[in-house]
Amino acid sequence: MTVVRPAGPGAGLGPGAGGGVGAGGGGGVRSGGAWLEDPYARALRAGRGPLFLRRPDGWVLPLEVERWLADADPADESVLSRCRGAVLDIGCGPGRLVAALAGRGHPVLGVDVSPAAVTRTVRRGGSALCRSVFGPLPGEGRWTTALLLDGNIGIGGDPGALLGRVAGLLGPVGRLIAEAAEAEVDECHEVRLDDGRGPRGVPFRWSRLGPTALLRHAERAGWTPLDTWTASGRHFAELAPGPAA
Ligand SMILES: C[S@@+](CC[C@H](N)C(=O)[O-])C[C@H]1O[C@@H](n2cnc3c(N)ncnc32)[C@H](O)[C@@H]1O
Repeated sequence: MTVVRPAGPGAGLGPGAGGGVGAGGGGGVRSGGAWLEDPYARALRAGRGPLFLRRPDGWVLPLEVERWLADADPADESVLSRCRGAVLDIGCGPGRLVAALAGRGHPVLGVDVSPAAVTRTVRRGGSALCRSVFGPLPGEGRWTTALLLDGNIGIGGDPGALLGRVAGLLGPVGRLIAEAAEAEVDECHEVRLDDGRGPRGVPFRWSRLGPTALLRHAERAGWTPLDTWTASGRHFAELAPGPAA
């Protein structure tokens, strides 16, 4: 596994101070391997889609590659303004949020299994680690804010397992900001990455949770919802691990 850090701004990461350097972690842990190469890497290198998650029955979910490659937008801003302390962006992609948070002086680390995504994040001036969220990470149990945006609650295809993992990454006053799907769905499917041009990616499990399902899974996993909001048609929840104080 590759660890990439820019010279300078990433040097003082909070919970992971010093811990962001090192190898290992298993990019293939819990299906992360599907995002390692084409067609996701092709789309990031080209700087555009189309890119889809394709189910075996032919249903496709378009992925917003151009939005991920752009700067943070007003909906992102509604998340950024709620971030406190040291931030871990899980499945950071090409790093628009990592770069925006670093620009505001937050200690911030992106984690992603895709070397192409990590490379883009670093080029934008962010710090990122090429590793699975389910592998060992720096600062475990000390992060102040964790992010699961752009559908990343789907990582691993088991929201309960992912939420349990994130709870273990946060410190005592830590918070998760998670994004729900627009539609009221609660589903998990086998999908492949597909750009409609080259070979499809390997199959992996991916979940989609709408606003109600996100809160249901969070509460089932022991989280307390603190806030929910909608910005530019996107739905978000701020969650605290454990019961309400
Ligand atoms: C739907 S995209 C989200 C893009 C991203 N949030 C952004 O700002 O561009 C999912 C991202 O999660 C990453 N990913 C998938 N499985 C992962 C895992 N197990 N651990 C960390 N990242 C993972 C993918 O490589 C991809 O960049």
